[in-house]
Amino acid sequence: MERRRFGPGQNETAVIGQGTWYIENAKRASAVAALRRGLDFGMTHIDTAELYGSGAAEEVVAEAIAGRRDEVFVVSKVLPQNASRKGTMLACERSLARLRTNRLDCYLLHWRGQYPLADTFAAFEELQRQGKILSWGVSNFDVSDLEEARKIVGEGRIACNQVLYHLQERAIEHKVIPWCEKRGVAVVAYSPFGHGSFPGPRTAGGKVLQEIAEAHHATPRQVALRFLVRRPSVFTIPKASTSEHVEENAGAGGLHLTPAEIARIDMAFPLGPGPRPLPVL
Ligand SMILES: NC(=O)c1ccc[n+]([C@@H]2O[C@H](COP(=O)([O-])OP(=O)(O)OC[C@H]3O[C@@H](n4cnc5c(N)ncnc54)[C@H](OP(=O)(O)O)[C@@H]3O)[C@@H](O)[C@H]2O)c1
Repeated sequence: MERRRFGPGQNETAVIGQGTWYIENAKRASAVAALRRGLDFGMTHIDTAELYGSGAAEEVVAEAIAGRRDEVFVVSKVLPQNASRKGTMLACERSLARLRTNRLDCYLLHWRGQYPLADTFAAFEELQRQGKILSWGVSNFDVSDLEEARKIVGEGRIACNQVLYHLQERAIEHKVIPWCEKRGVAVVAYSPFGHGSFPGPRTAGGKVLQEIAEAHHATPRQVALRFLVRRPSVFTIPKASTSEHVEENAGAGGLHLTPAEIARIDMAFPLGPGPRPLPVL
């Protein structure tokens, strides 16, 4: 599995990780086995949140990482309604307890809410000083939010921005990815399969994915994941609750698309209107 530097620090993690939204709804044994299978394939970036199943997803993750903590890059998130200075500290303690670990590799504000960013970030900095989190970041931040965040904490503090990004929703390519790349902030693509609405094999886009996949003895989902992480700042966290799905997703880690293939996908799933698009790499 390819690994990349994650944000401005020295941390590194897998380019294809594992999401956990709704994982608590799957059969427990299957979900735990799937996450562990992902770790076997080097999908060490596990994304969770206090929101998911009201903490139940973090408990599934705890079971999956038991005995393997040092392999894993664990990310969790504080809900906006808990993101006061004190509330963030307490929410982090609860997540650590559910995850049965003494540290998070990265802790995110799930989205902006009623508390001033300065309060949440002060808690993040305090948690980092205490060694309870090794880095912190944001989620669902637009460029104006990112600018505001940068004014509060300066350069080099925000590890990542976790945002919606899949073939049919490429809006972050206009401004968010360029902003993050310029400042060394990792971009984590969530819902890379459109949260269950992946292009079908009979659609025009689906056929393009299928043809490119066949040329690589790969699958359309592997091609899609690889397309999303074609820029060096981008990571992705597909959620899968079976080992078969995880194994397929892990296969994207070693896939390499040619510039011509990337251009074909780019045309099949157009970016949509907005400012200057990113060049195809
Ligand atoms: N920060 C945020 O606001 C935010 C928002 C949304 C999501 N996220 C994070 O991003 C993660 C991923 O996003 P997501 O869960 O919304 O959706 P997703 O990863 O785009 O899609 C998940 C769906 O795809 C299926 N799937 C996965 N691999 C498959 C495969 N190889 N073949 C067929 N089906 C496959 C899963 O089925 P099975 O479960 O049956 O395997 C599940 O139904 C979340 O779990 C969460 O950790 C963050």
